[in-house]
Amino acid sequence: MRADTVLHNAKVYTKGEVLDAGIAIKNGRIIEVAKEAHLPVAEDYIDLNGCLALPGLIDVHVHLRDQLQAYKEDFRTGTAAAVVGGITSVLDMPNNQPITMDSSSLRERILLAQQVVVANVGFYSAFSQKTDEIEEVAREGAIAFKVYLTSQVGDLDIDDDEALLHAFNAASRLGVPVAVHAEDRKIIKSIADHEQTLGHETSDAYQKAHTPEAETKAVARILRITRNSSAHIHFCHISSSQALTLIQKAAKSGSRVSCEVTPHHLLLTSQGFKQQGNLLLTDPPVRSRKTMIELWEAVKARQIDIIASDHAPHSIDEKMVDSVWNVKPGIPGLETLLPLLLTKVNEGWFSVNDVVRLTAENPAKIFHLNQNGFLRKDYDANITVVDMRRKSKIDASHFYSKAKYSPFDKWDVKGVPIKTFVNGKLVMDEGEVIAKGVAGKILSPANSN
Ligand code: DOR
Ligand code: ZN
Ligand code: ZN
Repeated sequence: MRADTVLHNAKVYTKGEVLDAGIAIKNGRIIEVAKEAHLPVAEDYIDLNGCLALPGLIDVHVHLRDQLQAYKEDFRTGTAAAVVGGITSVLDMPNNQPITMDSSSLRERILLAQQVVVANVGFYSAFSQKTDEIEEVAREGAIAFKVYLTSQVGDLDIDDDEALLHAFNAASRLGVPVAVHAEDRKIIKSIADHEQTLGHETSDAYQKAHTPEAETKAVARILRITRNSSAHIHFCHISSSQALTLIQKAAKSGSRVSCEVTPHHLLLTSQGFKQQGNLLLTDPPVRSRKTMIELWEAVKARQIDIIASDHAPHSIDEKMVDSVWNVKPGIPGLETLLPLLLTKVNEGWFSVNDVVRLTAENPAKIFHLNQNGFLRKDYDANITVVDMRRKSKIDASHFYSKAKYSPFDKWDVKGVPIKTFVNGKLVMDEGEVIAKGVAGKILSPANSN
Protein backbone atom coordinates (compact mmCIF):
# COMPACT_ATOMS: atom_id res chain seq x y z
CA MET A 1 0.00 0.00 0.00
CA ARG A 2 1.31 3.45 -0.93
CA ALA A 3 1.49 5.83 2.07
CA ASP A 4 0.50 9.49 2.01
CA THR A 5 3.51 10.52 4.09
CA VAL A 6 6.59 8.87 5.50
CA LEU A 7 8.45 10.48 8.37
CA HIS A 8 12.03 9.27 8.07
CA ASN A 9 15.44 9.73 9.67
CA ALA A 10 13.75 9.66 13.06
CA LYS A 11 13.99 8.17 16.48
CA VAL A 12 10.55 6.76 17.23
CA TYR A 13 9.14 6.13 20.69
CA THR A 14 7.16 2.93 20.36
CA LYS A 15 6.38 0.12 22.79
CA GLY A 16 8.47 1.71 25.52
CA GLU A 17 11.60 1.97 23.38
CA VAL A 18 13.28 4.52 21.16
CA LEU A 19 14.02 2.96 17.76
CA ASP A 20 15.85 4.24 14.68
CA ALA A 21 12.81 4.02 12.46
CA GLY A 22 10.23 5.83 10.38
CA ILE A 23 6.47 6.23 10.43
CA ALA A 24 4.19 5.70 7.43
CA ILE A 25 0.86 7.55 7.44
CA LYS A 26 -2.24 7.09 5.28
CA ASN A 27 -5.65 8.75 5.64
CA GLY A 28 -4.66 10.23 8.98
CA ARG A 29 -3.65 6.89 10.47
CA ILE A 30 -0.30 5.22 11.16
CA ILE A 31 0.02 2.29 8.78
CA GLU A 32 3.55 1.27 9.73
CA VAL A 33 6.26 1.97 12.29
CA ALA A 34 9.38 0.22 11.07
CA LYS A 35 13.00 0.43 10.00
CA GLU A 36 13.15 2.61 6.92
CA ALA A 37 13.89 -0.31 4.59
CA HIS A 38 10.55 -1.85 5.58
CA LEU A 39 8.39 1.23 5.07
CA PRO A 40 6.08 1.57 2.08
CA VAL A 41 6.63 4.09 -0.71
CA ALA A 42 4.95 7.46 -0.06
CA GLU A 43 3.69 10.52 -1.91
CA ASP A 44 5.57 12.73 0.48
CA TYR A 45 8.65 12.36 2.71
CA ILE A 46 9.49 14.44 5.75
CA ASP A 47 13.01 14.26 7.17
CA LEU A 48 12.99 14.49 10.98
CA ASN A 49 16.78 15.00 11.13
CA GLY A 50 17.28 12.38 13.81
CA CYS A 51 14.78 13.99 16.18
CA LEU A 52 12.52 12.07 18.53
CA ALA A 53 8.93 11.31 17.51
CA LEU A 54 6.61 10.86 20.49
CA PRO A 55 2.92 9.97 20.67
CA GLY A 56 1.04 13.28 20.44
CA LEU A 57 0.40 14.64 23.91
CA ILE A 58 -3.12 14.52 25.32
CA ASP A 59 -3.84 17.33 27.78
CA VAL A 60 -6.84 16.22 29.81
CA HIS A 61 -7.36 19.54 31.62
CA VAL A 62 -7.87 22.58 29.40
CA HIS A 63 -10.24 25.55 29.50
CA LEU A 64 -10.75 26.53 25.85
CA ARG A 65 -13.49 29.08 26.78
CA ASP A 66 -14.93 30.62 23.54
CA GLN A 67 -18.64 31.61 23.35
CA LEU A 68 -19.22 34.41 25.90
CA GLN A 69 -15.64 34.08 27.15
CA ALA A 70 -13.99 34.27 23.72
CA TYR A 71 -12.15 37.38 24.90
CA LYS A 72 -10.08 35.05 27.13
CA GLU A 73 -9.56 32.27 24.56
CA ASP A 74 -11.38 30.68 21.66
CA PHE A 75 -11.32 27.27 19.99
CA ARG A 76 -8.85 28.44 17.35
CA THR A 77 -6.36 30.19 19.63
CA GLY A 78 -6.59 27.52 22.32
CA THR A 79 -5.97 24.63 19.91
CA ALA A 80 -3.23 26.63 18.14
CA ALA A 81 -1.54 27.05 21.54
CA ALA A 82 -1.91 23.29 22.07
CA VAL A 83 -0.14 22.24 18.86
CA VAL A 84 2.62 24.80 19.37
CA GLY A 85 3.13 23.10 22.72
CA GLY A 86 3.27 19.65 21.10
CA ILE A 87 -0.21 18.74 22.33
CA THR A 88 -2.40 17.03 19.74
CA SER A 89 -5.56 16.43 21.78
CA VAL A 90 -7.18 18.38 24.59
CA LEU A 91 -10.15 17.80 26.86
CA ASP A 92 -12.18 20.96 27.39
CA MET A 93 -13.61 21.83 30.80
CA PRO A 94 -17.33 22.68 31.21
CA ASN A 95 -17.22 25.87 33.35
CA ASN A 96 -18.05 28.00 30.33
CA GLN A 97 -20.58 30.68 29.60
CA PRO A 98 -22.97 29.03 28.92
CA ILE A 99 -22.01 26.05 31.08
CA THR A 100 -21.59 22.74 29.24
CA MET A 101 -24.12 20.63 31.13
CA ASP A 102 -26.64 19.08 28.77
CA SER A 103 -26.93 17.81 25.22
CA SER A 104 -27.87 21.16 23.70
CA SER A 105 -25.03 23.13 25.33
CA LEU A 106 -22.56 20.40 24.35
CA ARG A 107 -23.89 20.30 20.78
CA GLU A 108 -23.44 24.07 20.54
CA ARG A 109 -19.78 23.79 21.57
CA ILE A 110 -19.14 20.89 19.18
CA LEU A 111 -20.66 22.85 16.28
CA LEU A 112 -18.45 25.85 16.97
CA ALA A 113 -15.29 23.84 17.58
CA GLN A 114 -15.51 21.59 14.56
CA GLN A 115 -15.28 24.58 12.23
CA VAL A 116 -11.94 25.82 13.55
CA VAL A 117 -9.90 23.42 15.69
CA VAL A 118 -6.27 22.63 14.86
CA ALA A 119 -5.99 19.97 17.58
CA ASN A 120 -8.41 17.20 18.52
CA VAL A 121 -10.88 18.25 21.17
CA GLY A 122 -12.99 16.19 23.55
CA PHE A 123 -15.49 17.70 25.97
CA TYR A 124 -16.31 17.41 29.63
CA SER A 125 -19.83 18.09 30.77
CA ALA A 126 -21.01 19.28 34.17
CA PHE A 127 -23.78 17.19 35.72
CA SER A 128 -27.43 17.88 35.35
CA GLN A 129 -29.73 16.72 38.17
CA LYS A 130 -31.75 14.67 35.71
CA THR A 131 -30.54 11.16 34.94
CA ASP A 132 -32.02 11.43 31.43
CA GLU A 133 -29.88 14.47 30.70
CA ILE A 134 -26.76 12.71 32.03
CA GLU A 135 -27.41 9.89 29.58
CA GLU A 136 -28.17 12.25 26.72
CA VAL A 137 -25.04 14.35 27.12
CA ALA A 138 -22.92 11.19 27.15
CA ARG A 139 -24.67 10.05 23.97
CA GLU A 140 -23.98 13.48 22.47
CA GLY A 141 -20.27 12.73 22.95
CA ALA A 142 -19.08 13.89 26.39
CA ILE A 143 -15.78 12.18 27.16
CA ALA A 144 -16.14 12.69 30.91
CA PHE A 145 -18.07 14.57 33.58
CA LYS A 146 -16.64 17.23 35.85
CA VAL A 147 -17.65 18.20 39.37
CA TYR A 148 -16.44 21.40 41.02
CA LEU A 149 -16.69 21.21 44.79
CA THR A 150 -15.62 24.85 45.15
CA SER A 151 -18.66 26.38 43.49
CA GLN A 152 -21.85 25.30 41.83
CA VAL A 153 -21.16 24.57 38.13
CA GLY A 154 -24.15 22.76 36.63
CA ASP A 155 -27.32 22.11 38.58
CA LEU A 156 -26.31 19.11 40.68
CA ASP A 157 -26.34 20.06 44.39
CA ILE A 158 -22.68 19.62 45.38
CA ASP A 159 -23.51 19.62 49.09
CA ASP A 160 -25.77 16.58 48.72
CA ASP A 161 -23.81 13.31 49.04
CA GLU A 162 -26.71 11.20 47.78
CA ALA A 163 -27.21 13.35 44.69
CA LEU A 164 -23.48 13.08 43.94
CA LEU A 165 -23.53 9.29 44.30
CA HIS A 166 -26.56 9.08 42.06
CA ALA A 167 -24.77 11.11 39.36
CA PHE A 168 -21.51 9.14 39.77
CA ASN A 169 -23.40 5.86 39.37
CA ALA A 170 -25.15 7.15 36.26
CA ALA A 171 -21.73 8.07 34.78
CA SER A 172 -20.39 4.66 35.75
CA ARG A 173 -23.24 2.86 33.95
CA LEU A 174 -22.34 4.87 30.86
CA GLY A 175 -18.65 3.94 31.21
CA VAL A 176 -17.66 7.62 31.54
CA PRO A 177 -15.13 8.86 34.12
CA VAL A 178 -15.86 11.73 36.52
CA ALA A 179 -13.17 14.37 37.13
CA VAL A 180 -13.31 16.27 40.41
CA HIS A 181 -11.94 19.64 41.49
CA ALA A 182 -11.56 18.65 45.11
CA GLU A 183 -11.60 21.54 47.56
CA ASP A 184 -14.16 21.85 50.34
CA ARG A 185 -16.01 25.08 49.71
CA LYS A 186 -17.18 25.51 53.32
CA ILE A 187 -13.63 25.47 54.71
CA ILE A 188 -12.53 27.93 52.03
CA LYS A 189 -15.47 30.24 52.60
CA SER A 190 -15.15 30.39 56.37
CA ILE A 191 -11.43 31.27 56.23
CA ALA A 192 -11.92 33.67 53.29
CA ASP A 193 -14.75 35.47 55.13
CA HIS A 194 -12.59 35.83 58.22
CA GLU A 195 -9.61 37.12 56.22
CA GLN A 196 -11.84 39.60 54.42
CA THR A 197 -13.24 40.99 57.68
CA LEU A 198 -9.64 41.57 58.75
CA GLY A 199 -9.11 43.49 55.51
CA HIS A 200 -6.55 40.99 54.19
CA GLU A 201 -6.42 41.14 50.40
CA THR A 202 -3.11 39.60 49.37
CA SER A 203 -2.11 36.19 48.07
CA ASP A 204 -1.22 35.14 51.65
CA ALA A 205 -4.86 35.40 52.62
CA TYR A 206 -5.92 33.47 49.49
CA GLN A 207 -3.47 30.69 50.31
CA LYS A 208 -4.71 30.52 53.88
CA ALA A 209 -8.27 30.04 52.64
CA HIS A 210 -7.32 27.50 49.97
CA THR A 211 -5.55 25.40 52.57
CA PRO A 212 -4.41 21.83 51.76
CA GLU A 213 -6.91 20.68 54.40
CA ALA A 214 -9.72 21.87 52.12
CA GLU A 215 -8.36 19.56 49.43
CA THR A 216 -7.88 16.63 51.79
CA LYS A 217 -11.38 16.99 53.19
CA ALA A 218 -12.97 17.06 49.74
CA VAL A 219 -10.93 14.07 48.52
CA ALA A 220 -11.89 12.10 51.64
CA ARG A 221 -15.54 12.98 51.12
CA ILE A 222 -15.60 11.84 47.49
CA LEU A 223 -13.76 8.62 48.34
CA ARG A 224 -16.27 7.95 51.12
CA ILE A 225 -19.22 8.56 48.80
CA THR A 226 -17.84 6.26 46.10
CA ARG A 227 -16.48 3.52 48.39
CA ASN A 228 -19.03 0.98 47.21
CA SER A 229 -19.54 2.38 43.75
CA SER A 230 -17.87 1.31 40.53
CA ALA A 231 -17.65 4.95 39.40
CA HIS A 232 -14.25 6.00 38.07
CA ILE A 233 -13.14 9.19 39.84
CA HIS A 234 -10.28 11.24 38.43
CA PHE A 235 -8.90 13.86 40.85
CA CYS A 236 -7.74 17.01 39.06
CA HIS A 237 -4.61 19.03 39.96
CA ILE A 238 -3.71 17.37 43.27
CA SER A 239 -1.57 19.75 45.32
CA SER A 240 -0.84 18.05 48.63
CA SER A 241 0.71 14.80 49.82
CA GLN A 242 -2.12 14.22 52.31
CA ALA A 243 -4.64 14.02 49.48
CA LEU A 244 -2.34 11.68 47.56
CA THR A 245 -2.07 9.34 50.52
CA LEU A 246 -5.86 9.05 50.67
CA ILE A 247 -6.07 8.38 46.93
CA GLN A 248 -3.37 5.70 47.16
CA LYS A 249 -5.19 4.00 50.01
CA ALA A 250 -8.49 4.01 48.14
CA ALA A 251 -6.82 2.62 45.01
CA LYS A 252 -5.28 -0.21 47.06
CA SER A 253 -8.63 -1.10 48.54
CA GLY A 254 -10.18 -1.43 45.10
CA SER A 255 -11.70 1.98 44.27
CA ARG A 256 -11.38 3.09 40.65
CA VAL A 257 -9.40 6.30 41.11
CA SER A 258 -6.77 8.23 39.23
CA CYS A 259 -5.18 11.63 39.69
CA GLU A 260 -3.28 14.37 37.94
CA VAL A 261 -0.76 17.07 38.82
CA THR A 262 0.12 20.22 36.92
CA PRO A 263 3.56 21.51 35.89
CA HIS A 264 2.99 24.62 38.04
CA HIS A 265 2.49 22.55 41.20
CA LEU A 266 5.64 20.57 40.31
CA LEU A 267 7.83 23.56 39.49
CA LEU A 268 6.63 26.64 41.39
CA THR A 269 6.17 27.58 45.03
CA SER A 270 4.31 30.30 46.88
CA GLN A 271 7.63 32.17 47.17
CA GLY A 272 6.91 33.20 43.56
CA PHE A 273 4.08 35.55 44.62
CA LYS A 274 6.76 38.10 45.61
CA GLN A 275 7.85 38.56 41.99
CA GLN A 276 4.86 37.31 40.04
CA GLY A 277 2.01 38.70 42.10
CA ASN A 278 -1.39 37.56 40.97
CA LEU A 279 -0.16 36.23 37.62
CA LEU A 280 0.76 33.19 39.68
CA LEU A 281 -2.66 32.94 41.27
CA THR A 282 -4.41 29.67 40.48
CA ASP A 283 -6.73 27.33 42.28
CA PRO A 284 -5.57 25.22 44.03
CA PRO A 285 -2.61 27.53 44.70
CA VAL A 286 1.03 26.52 44.36
CA ARG A 287 2.41 25.58 47.75
CA SER A 288 5.63 25.17 49.73
CA ARG A 289 8.94 23.82 48.50
CA LYS A 290 8.42 20.78 50.72
CA THR A 291 5.08 20.01 49.03
CA MET A 292 6.59 20.52 45.60
CA ILE A 293 9.28 17.94 46.38
CA GLU A 294 6.67 15.53 47.74
CA LEU A 295 4.70 15.82 44.50
CA TRP A 296 7.85 14.97 42.51
CA GLU A 297 8.45 11.97 44.72
CA ALA A 298 4.89 10.86 44.02
CA VAL A 299 5.50 11.23 40.26
CA LYS A 300 8.58 9.05 40.56
CA ALA A 301 6.76 6.50 42.72
CA ARG A 302 4.09 6.26 39.99
CA GLN A 303 1.42 7.53 42.33
CA ILE A 304 0.43 10.18 39.81
CA ASP A 305 -1.32 9.00 36.66
CA ILE A 306 -1.34 12.13 34.51
CA ILE A 307 0.39 15.49 34.13
CA ALA A 308 -2.05 18.05 32.69
CA SER A 309 -1.70 21.78 32.18
CA ASP A 310 -4.96 23.13 33.66
CA HIS A 311 -4.62 25.79 30.94
CA ALA A 312 -6.89 28.48 32.43
CA PRO A 313 -6.55 31.71 30.42
CA HIS A 314 -7.92 35.06 31.60
CA SER A 315 -7.49 38.56 30.24
CA ILE A 316 -4.57 40.48 31.71
CA ASP A 317 -7.03 43.00 33.16
CA GLU A 318 -8.71 40.21 35.09
CA LYS A 319 -5.35 39.23 36.60
CA MET A 320 -4.14 42.76 37.40
CA VAL A 321 -6.65 43.81 40.03
CA ASP A 322 -5.73 44.93 43.52
CA SER A 323 -7.67 42.66 45.83
CA VAL A 324 -6.79 38.96 45.59
CA TRP A 325 -10.48 38.16 46.11
CA ASN A 326 -11.30 39.74 42.75
CA VAL A 327 -8.48 38.13 40.74
CA LYS A 328 -9.46 35.36 38.33
CA PRO A 329 -7.38 32.32 39.25
CA GLY A 330 -5.70 30.40 36.46
CA ILE A 331 -2.47 30.07 34.49
CA PRO A 332 -2.11 29.46 30.73
CA GLY A 333 -0.11 26.26 30.34
CA LEU A 334 -0.49 24.69 26.90
CA GLU A 335 2.65 26.25 25.43
CA THR A 336 4.91 25.59 28.39
CA LEU A 337 4.01 22.08 29.59
CA LEU A 338 6.17 20.01 27.24
CA PRO A 339 9.30 22.25 27.13
CA LEU A 340 9.26 22.34 30.95
CA LEU A 341 8.92 18.56 31.25
CA LEU A 342 11.62 17.90 28.63
CA THR A 343 13.93 20.27 30.49
CA LYS A 344 13.43 18.12 33.58
CA VAL A 345 14.21 15.03 31.50
CA ASN A 346 17.46 16.68 30.38
CA GLU A 347 18.24 17.50 34.00
CA GLY A 348 17.73 13.84 34.92
CA TRP A 349 14.65 14.29 37.12
CA PHE A 350 12.70 11.68 35.20
CA SER A 351 12.70 9.95 31.81
CA VAL A 352 11.13 10.38 28.38
CA ASN A 353 9.22 7.17 29.15
CA ASP A 354 7.72 8.87 32.21
CA VAL A 355 6.69 11.90 30.15
CA VAL A 356 5.02 9.71 27.51
CA ARG A 357 3.23 7.60 30.13
CA LEU A 358 1.97 10.67 32.03
CA THR A 359 0.98 12.84 29.07
CA ALA A 360 -0.11 10.41 26.35
CA GLU A 361 -0.49 6.75 27.34
CA ASN A 362 -2.33 7.14 30.64
CA PRO A 363 -4.59 9.97 29.39
CA ALA A 364 -5.63 7.74 26.45
CA LYS A 365 -6.29 4.77 28.74
CA ILE A 366 -8.07 6.65 31.53
CA PHE A 367 -10.33 8.70 29.23
CA HIS A 368 -10.89 5.85 26.73
CA LEU A 369 -9.39 7.73 23.79
CA ASN A 370 -8.91 4.66 21.68
CA GLN A 371 -6.42 4.78 18.77
CA ASN A 372 -4.58 7.56 20.62
CA GLY A 373 -1.62 7.89 22.99
CA PHE A 374 0.70 5.42 21.23
CA LEU A 375 2.71 5.30 18.00
CA ARG A 376 1.41 2.03 16.64
CA LYS A 377 -0.02 0.63 13.44
CA ASP A 378 -3.72 1.52 13.02
CA TYR A 379 -3.53 4.36 15.58
CA ASP A 380 -4.39 7.94 14.66
CA ALA A 381 -1.31 9.78 13.37
CA ASN A 382 -1.05 12.24 16.24
CA ILE A 383 2.68 12.78 16.58
CA THR A 384 4.90 15.24 18.44
CA VAL A 385 8.47 15.64 17.23
CA VAL A 386 10.89 17.04 19.80
CA ASP A 387 14.46 18.22 19.65
CA MET A 388 15.90 17.18 23.01
CA ARG A 389 19.07 19.23 22.51
CA ARG A 390 17.50 22.52 21.44
CA LYS A 391 17.72 25.35 23.97
CA SER A 392 15.12 28.07 24.08
CA LYS A 393 13.63 30.72 26.35
CA ILE A 394 9.93 30.84 27.15
CA ASP A 395 8.47 34.03 25.74
CA ALA A 396 4.86 34.57 26.79
CA SER A 397 4.51 37.61 24.52
CA HIS A 398 4.68 35.16 21.57
CA PHE A 399 2.04 32.75 22.86
CA TYR A 400 -0.72 31.73 20.45
CA SER A 401 -2.99 31.73 23.50
CA LYS A 402 -4.79 35.02 24.09
CA ALA A 403 -3.31 34.94 27.62
CA LYS A 404 0.15 36.33 26.86
CA TYR A 405 1.65 36.00 30.34
CA SER A 406 3.12 33.14 32.31
CA PRO A 407 4.84 32.55 35.64
CA PHE A 408 7.40 30.66 33.52
CA ASP A 409 8.11 33.65 31.27
CA LYS A 410 11.84 33.99 30.47
CA TRP A 411 12.63 30.54 31.86
CA ASP A 412 15.42 28.75 29.99
CA VAL A 413 14.36 25.39 28.62
CA LYS A 414 16.19 22.55 26.89
CA GLY A 415 14.07 20.19 24.81
CA VAL A 416 11.28 21.65 22.66
CA PRO A 417 8.56 20.44 20.29
CA ILE A 418 9.51 21.29 16.70
CA LYS A 419 6.79 19.58 14.63
CA THR A 420 3.26 18.51 15.50
CA PHE A 421 1.14 16.21 13.35
CA VAL A 422 -2.61 16.02 13.96
CA ASN A 423 -4.42 13.18 12.17
CA GLY A 424 -1.45 12.88 9.81
CA LYS A 425 -1.30 16.58 8.94
CA LEU A 426 1.70 18.75 9.79
CA VAL A 427 0.05 21.57 11.75
CA MET A 428 3.02 23.10 13.58
CA ASP A 429 6.52 23.55 12.24
CA GLU A 430 9.34 25.27 14.17
CA GLY A 431 6.95 26.99 16.56
CA GLU A 432 4.60 28.29 13.86
CA VAL A 433 1.07 27.05 13.28
CA ILE A 434 1.00 26.23 9.57
CA ALA A 435 -2.43 24.60 9.32
CA LYS A 436 -4.81 26.89 7.48
CA GLY A 437 -8.13 25.22 8.10
CA VAL A 438 -9.45 22.56 10.43
CA ALA A 439 -7.06 19.73 11.30
CA GLY A 440 -8.45 18.42 14.58
CA LYS A 441 -11.50 16.31 15.09
CA ILE A 442 -14.03 16.09 17.86
CA LEU A 443 -13.13 13.20 20.13
CA SER A 444 -15.94 11.08 21.42
CA PRO A 445 -15.98 7.64 22.96
CA ALA A 446 -17.81 6.44 19.84
CA ASN A 447 -15.80 7.97 16.98
CA SER A 448 -12.40 7.53 18.59
CA ASN A 449 -12.83 3.76 18.35
O1 DOR B 1 -7.40 28.30 38.80
C1 DOR B 1 -8.45 27.86 38.36
N1 DOR B 1 -8.98 28.36 37.22
N2 DOR B 1 -9.13 26.92 39.03
C2 DOR B 1 -10.37 26.54 38.67
O2 DOR B 1 -10.93 25.67 39.29
C3 DOR B 1 -11.06 27.18 37.54
C4 DOR B 1 -10.07 27.71 36.59
C5 DOR B 1 -10.69 28.61 35.54
O3 DOR B 1 -11.66 28.20 34.90
O4 DOR B 1 -10.18 29.71 35.32
ZN1 ZN C 1 -9.95 22.98 39.03
ZN1 ZN D 1 -9.21 23.81 35.57
